Amino acid sequence: MSPGNHSARRPEPAHRLIDAAFGRPRGPAGTVGGALMARLNATEERWAVDRAALRPGERVLVVGPGPGVALARAVAAVEPGGRVVAVDPSATMRRSAIRRCAAQIAAGTLEVRDGAAERTGCPDAGVDAVLSVNNVMLWDRPAGFRELLRVLRPGGRMVLIVHRHVLGIPPERLVTEATGAGFGGVELTLRERRVLGPAVQMLLHHPGH
Ligand SMILES: C[S@@+](CC[C@H](N)C(=O)[O-])C[C@H]1O[C@@H](n2cnc3c(N)ncnc32)[C@H](O)[C@@H]1O
Repeated sequence: MSPGNHSARRPEPAHRLIDAAFGRPRGPAGTVGGALMARLNATEERWAVDRAALRPGERVLVVGPGPGVALARAVAAVEPGGRVVAVDPSATMRRSAIRRCAAQIAAGTLEVRDGAAERTGCPDAGVDAVLSVNNVMLWDRPAGFRELLRVLRPGGRMVLIVHRHVLGIPPERLVTEATGAGFGGVELTLRERRVLGPAVQMLLHHPGH
């Protein structure tokens, strides 16, 4: 085997472990990954809820909440009368979010269910706001942007936050892709953090009224 072949194959196990911990969390690695995300990403999760400026009575879709550290904050912001639905394809993460938010689920103000950015199970124009933190790099992005635009009501908004270092593409490309899918009024900012480097933050609008 040539050294080149050897080094080309070497990242595979590490990549699989990272995917099992953070990308599509599953098994023991997913449990550890979920605990780490709950600590390290809580600030961004809170930023997303606050940036969306949620109001009482609103319907909110959260995509890829992982352990769900800010779901209770989103529910509190839309009470009374509002409701939050969270979709995540990882059964390990859904279990964690359901445990963390048992009170809100029992009260009927939160539902945590199987889904993804590309398949939310929400009706057309069914939500006022969409939140996504640290998962856009895992989507089929054209399909994800199309689906999230479909479920937003005209004039609704989406907040998308992601670690700059895991995005894998220039942040400006997200703007191009979202605009291409039909979003309007897209604002892009970089937010500095003490640890983990800057975060990309986007506010996007459904163009209708
Ligand atoms: C890196 S974790 C981020 C979790 C949490 N939002 C945070 O910031 O700590 C990525 C999450 O996105 C979920 N995910 C994977 N593919 C997804 C997709 N296509 N759409 C939405 N979420 C997805 C994973 O199951 C996982 O819970």
